[in-house]
Amino acid sequence: MRKMSLNPLGTLRKTTYRSSEQEEYNFQRGADALPSIGTGVLLPTEKQLRSIVESGERKRVKIGTSPLAGNAKVCIDPDRLFGRHLAVLGNTGSGKSCSVAGLIRWSLEQAQQESDSFPNARFIVLDPNGEYSRAFSDSKDPTKARIFKVTPATESGELLLQIPLWFWNSAEWCSFTQASLKTQRPTLIQALRFVKAGQTEPAENKSHDTRRYLRTVLSTIQIEKNTGDPWGKFPKPKSFYEKLKMLKGDLEPELALLDGEELTALNNLFTYIEELCVPRRKLHANPIFSRWDVDRLLELISSAHSAFGGNEGDTLPVDVDAPLEFRGDSLLRSVEATAEMLNVSEYAETMLIRIRSLLANTRMKSIIGDTKNLSLHEWLSTYIGEDSAKNGCITVIDISLVSTEVVHIITAVIARVVFEALQRYRKLNTVTLPTVLVMEEAHIFIRRYNADAENQDAASVCCQVFERIAREGRKFGLGLVLSSQRPSELSQTVLSQCNTFLLHRISNDRDQELVNKLVPDNLRGLLRELPSLPSQNAILLGWASELPVLVKMNDLPQSQQPHSNDPDFWDVWTGKDVNGNPVERKADWKPIVDNWQGKSE
Ligand SMILES: Nc1ncnc2c1ncn2[C@@H]1O[C@H](COP(=O)(O)OP(=O)(O)OP(=O)(O)O)[C@@H](O)[C@H]1O
Ligand SMILES: [Mg+2]
Repeated sequence: MRKMSLNPLGTLRKTTYRSSEQEEYNFQRGADALPSIGTGVLLPTEKQLRSIVESGERKRVKIGTSPLAGNAKVCIDPDRLFGRHLAVLGNTGSGKSCSVAGLIRWSLEQAQQESDSFPNARFIVLDPNGEYSRAFSDSKDPTKARIFKVTPATESGELLLQIPLWFWNSAEWCSFTQASLKTQRPTLIQALRFVKAGQTEPAENKSHDTRRYLRTVLSTIQIEKNTGDPWGKFPKPKSFYEKLKMLKGDLEPELALLDGEELTALNNLFTYIEELCVPRRKLHANPIFSRWDVDRLLELISSAHSAFGGNEGDTLPVDVDAPLEFRGDSLLRSVEATAEMLNVSEYAETMLIRIRSLLANTRMKSIIGDTKNLSLHEWLSTYIGEDSAKNGCITVIDISLVSTEVVHIITAVIARVVFEALQRYRKLNTVTLPTVLVMEEAHIFIRRYNADAENQDAASVCCQVFERIAREGRKFGLGLVLSSQRPSELSQTVLSQCNTFLLHRISNDRDQELVNKLVPDNLRGLLRELPSLPSQNAILLGWASELPVLVKMNDLPQSQQPHSNDPDFWDVWTGKDVNGNPVERKADWKPIVDNWQGKSE
């Protein structure tokens, strides 16, 4: 007797006869009756296999054929493929980038055909190798992309990549400056608040200046109250005392210049500070303040603030993560001033050095610095796209030349801003704006990290953004496509939220093991093929495909492939290619050195 193990997948029913030979079949997932022992076994004919693979509704875009099923057409529904995140995994050279470029292209072309008009679609490709600009550079729409680069070739229509530094949120600033939890982080966050509220911009007049000064004092003392410093352990009360003395010194010259309500309010404050300071002068080594003292002080500062025209709304802290415009040097000044105000100047130095070096970096300046004219509105309209008929459907953001110390932050900022913009879009419009975010080389940007680490470095901040998109993106119409050579290094949260997988050749043990875990038990057999798949072939499984299938992806002509040819050693060595055309490759290092050392741009 033979023993056989079965995976019931579905039922194939014969439906129509057009002539005696032309049978049609209809495949449905699931089986309402299971075979009993002794039932005969049939091998499916090619036609039957094809019906199985081609079954299902809403097969809208053809992406390839299935060589194991009589070259049946493999079609997908973009709603399913992009709606619930797609992971494209495989070794180097196995065809991932070609597949990604193809999926985008074929979907758009089909959409255009179907609607007879320009597709209203949005694809944002984050391209760390600079390979996609070629794939979407054809002059005919809808697959002509807007290409953003650090060093754009403007004659071919490429645009300068600009990610203003005021887009960064507080977590991104903290990880970039490696701010320590205890003193640097509160200082930096407070400084960001001030700079976003426009506090470090030049004042309109004298009384505006004082008003702003009082507001700053008000919020720093509020912070100290919340942390309990004035009645805390030595030397915290002492530094609070020093601060009061400084405040008194600052206010004294003001008094002579004022009159009316402003004078009364400031005078009251001044007198009260003196009341607090004088009896404590002798025990200035450890002058304790009570909660009541501080409350009364806050009250007086607040009424002085209103006497100078300030109002409640003024003192409400601005959302520190809101993308409000400011300049880099204003932030520097704000950090310096805040550190002084909080008495932590000596601890803020390392942080300041990092911000200064960021602002001084010539290569980065064009990306983050000289963007005074770029508003958030303009950014969203050019990068996500306002009118795709005018702007095109694809944005390629080439981050290959962004310097390594900020590339994770820049990537995180782009992904987060896109996500938050779409979140807000749904809030205002109640419907979503379907958008696809493509992340190439995902193992670099969505790398597993240690969640317990006290200081989150840039890579983990970046990963967290993608984890959030993977978890919540679907609700806001944001689909994620990630492509990676090392699935075992990817964040598990992101991978487990991907509902569709396109698996190219994978030969590494650990990666295979991981992929095995992603598929249900009864389908593991299929994955035995993985180590030997030729390039351009892949296994499609998950939400977008009723049954896992082996696909040979459509052919992508050379001009539409991402620019990542295998190196042509032999042609360069011998000086001619297979067709006998001369191949020239000079090794001229001078321009490279100049560019590297920043001598020419
Ligand atoms: N659909 C396709 N049509 C035509 N050629 C293809 C296709 N898919 C793969 N290829 C061939 O395979 C080669 C490698 O593909 P690709 O650059 O996409 O690999 P990759 O998996 O992205 O590699 P890496 O991980 O190094 O980026 C291509 O240069 C191309 O010649
Ligand atoms: Mg690639």
